[in-house]
Amino acid sequence: MKNIIGIVGSGRRNSNSKRILEYTLKTLNSLGANVEMINILDLNISGCAECNECQKMGECIVEDDLTPLYEQFLNADAIIISTPVYFYSLPGQIKSMIDRFQALWARRYILKIEPKRHGIGGLISIAGSSGKKVFDGVILPVKYFFDVQGKELFEPLLFRNYDGEPENIPDDFLAKIDIWTDEFYKKTYKPDS
Ligand SMILES: Cc1cc2nc3c(=O)[nH]c(=O)nc-3n(C[C@H](O)[C@H](O)[C@H](O)COP(=O)(O)O)c2cc1C
Repeated sequence: MKNIIGIVGSGRRNSNSKRILEYTLKTLNSLGANVEMINILDLNISGCAECNECQKMGECIVEDDLTPLYEQFLNADAIIISTPVYFYSLPGQIKSMIDRFQALWARRYILKIEPKRHGIGGLISIAGSSGKKVFDGVILPVKYFFDVQGKELFEPLLFRNYDGEPENIPDDFLAKIDIWTDEFYKKTYKPDS
């Protein structure tokens, strides 16, 4: 059975990102995956202090709610981040988590320790505007957050022009999620690399 972890990145509790991720994980579970959802708002995670201690052992010396999650993420077959766009980027809380994965960047690219397993990463993002470049500042950090864990970013699922409430998410969004989720699940069995 595949293990898939989803992370909600929104700064608000009842968020579009959470509703969409719940919907996605429910489908993945019905397809046969073991799923777990983590909300960034439940975690106390400080930012990277750039002490560079991680370059010695490939581990972050800061101890907080992220500490046990490194191994959990590395062992997952797939991870999905579901996040709104804040100022053309990710909300600060989830960006802090991503920055702390510098420890895994050091592990892979300085200490040359390859992740024991490879997998895929999913990105679902939602923005209030319809700007062409509105997701640019989200996609690259997430792509490299996955890369340091040996996970390849799957085609992101992006929703523009939605500032509404989670309860009113349009049906056509849900239809797109269904198609994406199906493809994503198949990919957990056939990673490219
Ligand atoms: C602090 C903040 C910054 C935002 N910045 C942007 C932005 O740069 N571009 C955009 O299109 N929408 C922006 N939005 C709108 C949200 O991305 C949008 O309302 C989204 O649907 C919220 O999703 P959520 O319910 O998962 O938090 C911003 C919202 C907030 C609260």
